[in-house]
Amino acid sequence: MPGLKVENADLEHIVQTSDEWISTRTGISSRRIAVAETMLDLALAASRAALGMPAAPDDSVSIESSGEAFVDIDPASIDLLVLTTISPDVIVPCNAAALKKLLGLDNAIAFDMNAACTGFVYGATVADAMMAASHLKGGSVPARNVIRRALVVSAERLTHVTDWQDRNTCVLFGDGAGAAVFEWKDDAPGIISSFLKNDDDDTNALTCKQSYTSAFPFDESGVIYDAEAKAAHDAAHPDASDVSYDYINALGLSCDPAAARIDALFDIENKSAQGGPDQVIYMNGQKVFKFAAKAMEAAVRKVVEDGGITIDQVKLIVPHQANLRILEFAAKRLGVTLDSFQVSIAETGNCSSACVPMALTDALVSGRLEPGDYAVLVAFGGGLTSGAILLQV
Ligand code: COA
Repeated sequence: MPGLKVENADLEHIVQTSDEWISTRTGISSRRIAVAETMLDLALAASRAALGMPAAPDDSVSIESSGEAFVDIDPASIDLLVLTTISPDVIVPCNAAALKKLLGLDNAIAFDMNAACTGFVYGATVADAMMAASHLKGGSVPARNVIRRALVVSAERLTHVTDWQDRNTCVLFGDGAGAAVFEWKDDAPGIISSFLKNDDDDTNALTCKQSYTSAFPFDESGVIYDAEAKAAHDAAHPDASDVSYDYINALGLSCDPAAARIDALFDIENKSAQGGPDQVIYMNGQKVFKFAAKAMEAAVRKVVEDGGITIDQVKLIVPHQANLRILEFAAKRLGVTLDSFQVSIAETGNCSSACVPMALTDALVSGRLEPGDYAVLVAFGGGLTSGAILLQV
């Protein structure tokens, strides 16, 4: 997790809130904030721990799990790297390509995925499906990359897409990363069943837009230019290969002529008009809350049933950590106690897709999950995505 720990009481200096409100309504006591750490720094630290590598000497990111708890895995043996995030450092290259290079995964194919907070469950399901497909035998199956080991990493720097003047959201989110290695074995079940679902987000309950900031020199009628100003600019800068920003800005170009339509499509309020940041998370907390407990119950029941076991055979449910009360509702709906859930939210807050692998790591390191145990990973998020995986550790 990133170095800076911020307690609920610290947030009282920023917005009208209280430690009491945050802890009783959400179960969150503190969160980590990546100030100078990038999303990739977080992903790298979590991946190194999952591969059993020691932390890098100059690493500012602390990982709760110790490398020694896991077997040493040869980086060259990783065939696939899936990185899930909703807070990527860059759009291109895919962030996974940079992570692959930093980890020395010479033989891995690597790509990013975004399934909002359900990212790890989607990522692990895709990795499992690619492994299974590559091991199918028979003439009708086309040749494809053979994948025996897949590293699935989820990393988030959500606090940089957070509106720090909105108490409804800013108290909820944190930064962090988690990772797991999945290995194909012909004689071991591993992932037994999985289930993914997308419900329409009719009310746009969870959104964060992409802000395009580059001036755009076109409108529907063609190129926007000023011949006289361009000639004057070229005369004043005879050796310049590019025009100056002064010239471009003088044209009054729009950054994204479709911005208003995007805002309307997703019900996004234009915050920059009020002097605020545009690229921030919007959330209708109550809509998400209502969806979450039901979606978690349905996904858990489905994978347990498809896996041919019963809920009481599941040692631990490892859920997305959005709100402790959502977990309490989900436990009630499933007819189990909260003890059946890994609850890690108090010190992390909601780290979107990173929550499930972070909680899984907590469960493994604390010994709550041991080899042979059945575990269900379950999550929900924007989209509205939801899903679960039943696996045997
Ligand atoms: N501090 C103090 N008061 C706050 C507050 C804060 N940080 N945030 C909201 N409030 C206030 C509201 O303004 C409201 O005041 P009002 O009654 O005067 O209007 C009151 O608390 C109740 O707000 P409400 O939204 O009804 O609270 P809630 O019990 O539904 O809890 C969430 C809000 C966001 C914690 C809860 O809805 C939630 O967790 N939703 C799901 C979020 C989620 O899962 N997001 C991620 C999905 S991946």
